[in-house]
Amino acid sequence: MTGFHRILVGAVALLMGWGAYAQAPGTTAATSAATAAITPTTTPVTTPVTTPVTTPVTTPAVTLAAFLVPPDSSIPAGPQGVAIKEGKRLLTETKLRLPDHVGNGLHCTSCHLNAGTTAGAAPLVGLWGVFPEYRSRPGKLISLAERINDCFERSMNGKPLHYASDEMINILAYVQWLSIGVPTGQSVKGRGFGAIDAQLKPDAKHGSQVFADKCASCHAANGLGLKNPTGGYVFPPLWGDDSFNDGAGMARTFTAAAFVKYNMPLGLGGTLTDQQAIDVAEFFTHQPRPVYAGKELDWSKGGKPKDARN
Ligand code: HEC
Ligand code: HEC
Repeated sequence: MTGFHRILVGAVALLMGWGAYAQAPGTTAATSAATAAITPTTTPVTTPVTTPVTTPVTTPAVTLAAFLVPPDSSIPAGPQGVAIKEGKRLLTETKLRLPDHVGNGLHCTSCHLNAGTTAGAAPLVGLWGVFPEYRSRPGKLISLAERINDCFERSMNGKPLHYASDEMINILAYVQWLSIGVPTGQSVKGRGFGAIDAQLKPDAKHGSQVFADKCASCHAANGLGLKNPTGGYVFPPLWGDDSFNDGAGMARTFTAAAFVKYNMPLGLGGTLTDQQAIDVAEFFTHQPRPVYAGKELDWSKGGKPKDARN
């Protein structure tokens, strides 16, 4: 340990009221000098220190950008505006417009709620400037277009778009517009999903009860959702052939729980406890669903989460 690190550890130990550290045998003169500098000499080391440790010295500051959704009136005229509007339609009517690329009954916005503009529902706001980004699942940096195709292959159980296709370009134009004003390299507040206590133990049996009480009224008792007369879904399926496959992020217990906790039941987000959300997620994610053949390769470079499905 360098003298500098000793100073940091000594300071943290003091802040935490870990008085014994300061008296530990082997304490160097440098540490003593440093602790003396930040501790009034009259304060006995046994005095409880009440200062909350809110700023750990070793964590770098992460700046998050504000979550702002541009008004539709700001969509420009001309080809750029046409692309932005078409990109939005592709996300909200994915199954209808891209039947060759969608292998289930979902739209992108079945999960990326309100056309990707809801904080805490994996919003598409502000993504333009954060990709390319390292992802542990493939173990490399991927582009925004590759991330979009990941959801086509997994969440939509379908086929990727060609990178230079009009459809991909239009989706990218929409995400770019949703990201106007967000500094390059910064994520927005509300990116991804809200926090969930991943230390809790999932209980699928209790989850089936939560499902019956809180979810079945819309998603149906058999989890297969409710179809509309034109073949789409009023309420999307949570499992079965028309659902996301087992390589999707939503097939992971804690990812699904974080989505559910803050967004479901629809309109009543935030009403389930962490335990209820985790239990119902454990239950529905492990019901029968399409299989993703490529999932064996996921996290082959490490970082595999405990709720991985491979
Ligand atoms: C079954 C639910 C579901 C559907 C449907 C879905 N996604 Fe996703 N998507 C997710 C989840 C879960 C994540 C991961 C969020 C996280 O990392 O916190 C995600 C992440 C993303 C991201 C990266 C978000 C970020 O913050 O890095 C993009 C971009 C994306 N999806 C685009 C799409 C597109 C485009 C479609 C339609 C072709 C689609 N998704 C359909 C569930 C879904
Ligand atoms: C009031 C009706 C309603 C209730 C109750 C409800 N949902 Fe949903 N849920 C929806 C709708 C509608 C969507 C799709 C949103 C969209 O397309 O804009 C959805 C989407 C979802 C999705 C992502 C899409 C998919 O099909 O995989 C999941 C997961 C989900 N709900 C889980 C749950 C769980 C778990 C519960 C119970 C805790 C629940 N929902 C309760 C209406 C409901």
